[in-house]
Amino acid sequence: MIDGTQGYGDNAPALAEQYESITFDDVHHGVMHLFPSPPARVLDVGAGSGRDAAALAAIGHTVVAVEPTDALRQEGMRLHGGKPIDWVADHLPDLSQLHLRKDRFDLILLTAVWMHLDGHERRTAMKSLAGLLGAKGRISMSLRHGPVPQGRRMFDVSADETIELAGLHGLAAVQVAERNDMLGRPDVRWSFVVLEART
Ligand SMILES: C[S@@+](CC[C@H](N)C(=O)[O-])C[C@H]1O[C@@H](n2cnc3c(N)ncnc32)[C@H](O)[C@@H]1O
Repeated sequence: MIDGTQGYGDNAPALAEQYESITFDDVHHGVMHLFPSPPARVLDVGAGSGRDAAALAAIGHTVVAVEPTDALRQEGMRLHGGKPIDWVADHLPDLSQLHLRKDRFDLILLTAVWMHLDGHERRTAMKSLAGLLGAKGRISMSLRHGPVPQGRRMFDVSADETIELAGLHGLAAVQVAERNDMLGRPDVRWSFVVLEART
C-alpha cells in the first residue's frame, strides 16, 4: 500500500462518480486564470478519475496523469479513454518514474492530494516537484481542512507551511485563496495555493 492512498482502492467506481459530479471549472475557477494557455505541458498528480486531466487534454494541453491507486487509474482510463492522456502509475513523494522520463512541465496540479503526505514526505515531495517544473512553471494545489474520513490517511497542512517549504526550492506563491467545499460538506474547507518557479 502506497502511503496516502489508504481507502481509495476499495470503492473506486463510487469515488470516481463523486469526483466526476463536479467539473474542472467548479474546482479550479478561482485559480485557472493562472494556468498556462494551451498547448502546454501539464502533470496531474493524484489524478483520481481523470476529471481535470481530461478537461485539460480537451483544450489542447499535453497531459500526464499520475495515479497510484490501480482501481482509480483504471476507472480514469475507462471514463476518459477517448482523451489523449498519458496515465502513469507513480507516486509522491519521489515520483521516481516521472523523473526517469526527464519530462518538464509548465503546470503541475495536486488537487486534494498534498494533505495525504506527512511532514517528511512533504519535504521530499516539494523538492521532487520543483525538479519537474520548466522555467516559470507553476504548481497549483488544494489543501483540505476538516475531519479525516474514516480509513483515510491525512494530516493538518496549512497554506503558510506549504509556501515556506516551497520557498526552500525556489518557488514563490502567486496566489493563495480559501473556499468552501465544492461538494457542499459544511465541515470541510479548502486552501488553494499557486506556486511559481522563480529560478
Ligand atoms: C481526494 S482524491 C483527488 C483526486 C483528483 N485529484 C480530484 O481532484 O478529483 C486524492 C488522490 O490522491 C491520490 N494519492 C494518495 N496518495 C498519493 C501519493 N502518495 N502520491 C500520489 N497520489 C496519491 C489518491 O490515490 C487519490 O486519487
